[in-house]
Amino acid sequence: MAFPIHRLRRLRRTERLRSLVRETRITPDAMIYPIFVGPGKGVRKEISSMPGQFTLSIDRAVEVAREAEKLGVGGLLLFGLPPHKDETGSDACDESGIVQNALRAIRQNVKDLTLITDVCLCEYTSHGHCGVIKHRDVDNDATLKLLAESAVSHARAGADMVAPSDMMDGRVAAIRSALDREGFPNTPIMAYSAKYASAFYGPFRTAADCAPQFGDRRSYQMDPPNAREAMREIALDIQEGADIVMVKPAMPYLDIISRARRLYHVPIAGYQVSGEYSMIEAAAKAGWIERDRIVMETLTAIKRAGADILITYYALELAKTL
Ligand code: PBG
Repeated sequence: MAFPIHRLRRLRRTERLRSLVRETRITPDAMIYPIFVGPGKGVRKEISSMPGQFTLSIDRAVEVAREAEKLGVGGLLLFGLPPHKDETGSDACDESGIVQNALRAIRQNVKDLTLITDVCLCEYTSHGHCGVIKHRDVDNDATLKLLAESAVSHARAGADMVAPSDMMDGRVAAIRSALDREGFPNTPIMAYSAKYASAFYGPFRTAADCAPQFGDRRSYQMDPPNAREAMREIALDIQEGADIVMVKPAMPYLDIISRARRLYHVPIAGYQVSGEYSMIEAAAKAGWIERDRIVMETLTAIKRAGADILITYYALELAKTL
């Protein structure tokens, strides 16, 4: 007795009706815009592997932050490109490191914007790995101390939230206890919980010059075929004190987002990473796809799968047009 009683086309007749019954919406306040901050003054240099995205000196990052505030963007995610890299990534913990200086400058000029920092060593180490190297391997426990120190230095410089992306075991607990000890019990942690060892980070590594100089990240980032293991990663991060968990990349891992949504009751962020962005840009440039529709469709898919928060290089642009 379905047809002709039921005609699903009734509610698809006009844009007004479609919009009335729309189940998933993209809004600027639930989007986070990642930016790359580097040395210099007046610098706004396009990233060759990510057309339309730029490395910014601190003064120009302040301008972007002002714009993001005005447009009601949900937050900025700051990545630092330090002037010097070394074995232990010391700029990551330096009170006057690149991200710490950027935070203070932005905070001074922009009040109503959530500032989130990527906490990882790979942008700061000469070897490009996300931790301290011992015997040609990333030493988990030795890295925890540095990550905690880095997170605290970010909080001191004005970060509203920290986002560890290194995939060391126990980093959320280490960061939580360091933040609490140093007087930041109210600074939330957004953990890159299910972060896969993905080729989709390629364009980012060009931008941050952080490709590992030997080996790869497979001994700490997750193996792409594994889904149950992602649930373990997420469960552990929640136990350790993560306030928000993240799945990354996003579109190739919608099943992971969807499973996590059903199993856990914390906010979930989906990170549409550099490779996802650059593939859209390249195909659009070639005239093969309708760029704007693809952007909305991909981001909608990530939200529909269960992400509450979208981390995307399109955040600023969409905040202007939505
Ligand atoms: C740092 C980090 C990476 C990304 C976010 N944080 C690179 C990596 O793990 O190699 C990737 C972001 C993107 O591709 O947009 N660990």
